[in-house]
Amino acid sequence: MLKIQDFRKIVIANWKLNGSHSFSREYFDKLVFDNSNNKENCLIISPPVPYIFQIKSNNIYKCAQDCSEHTEGAYTGEISAKILKDIGCQFCIIGHSERRNLLNEKNEIILKKINNCVQNEIIPILCIGENLKHKKQNLTKDILKDQLINCLPKNIDFNNLIIAYEPIWSIGTGIIPSIEEISDIHKYIKESVFSEPKIKVLYGGSVKANNYKELIELPFVDGLLVGGASINLDEFNKIIKF
Ligand code: PGA
Repeated sequence: MLKIQDFRKIVIANWKLNGSHSFSREYFDKLVFDNSNNKENCLIISPPVPYIFQIKSNNIYKCAQDCSEHTEGAYTGEISAKILKDIGCQFCIIGHSERRNLLNEKNEIILKKINNCVQNEIIPILCIGENLKHKKQNLTKDILKDQLINCLPKNIDFNNLIIAYEPIWSIGTGIIPSIEEISDIHKYIKESVFSEPKIKVLYGGSVKANNYKELIELPFVDGLLVGGASINLDEFNKIIKF
């Protein structure tokens, strides 16, 4: 299995429900990611599953945006972690706030999906985050801890897991927490919730070409999960010069 501890910084592109056959061909033609001098930089791309085959370069890792809570059987429309593994996915985003909020995905379901990823040697990228109401009530850390405790299997191997801290109020809004808040939350996850300073924790929410540099270099931030800016190649080609 891939050794993510070897990576110093990780950037993930989350296309969400965007793209087309022609868009993805052009995207991978024009994407400029050169880590030949810096193998510690890791780029992971998560297009809609049918376009994953367009990722041909061997320095870009393949990622899905979700997997089924089921393993196989009569579940029309679902895609299992086993199938994702079979088509070459090394990573899978699990528990994105859009799925939690729009599709009512609860922690128990997310836990099952994480287990399915682990069993199929796919590294799960668990998304956690508070909404604005929680933030205003000063409940951010409680909410994050609850999500972490209830979404992760007790015996999870922290070497094979990525956590993405994505404040819901920051996703797609252009508003990001202060640098101090981001550092404080990442430190809290690594040191207080888990006592695992090596666990990979990425930041996501309105990451753009004009703010990525400051964010990615923060000491407790192991990388970035990029949504909107990842499907704009002018923006993303700048971000992946990290
Ligand atoms: P955004 O989305 O970068 O468009 O804010 C991030 C995400 O939802 O993963």
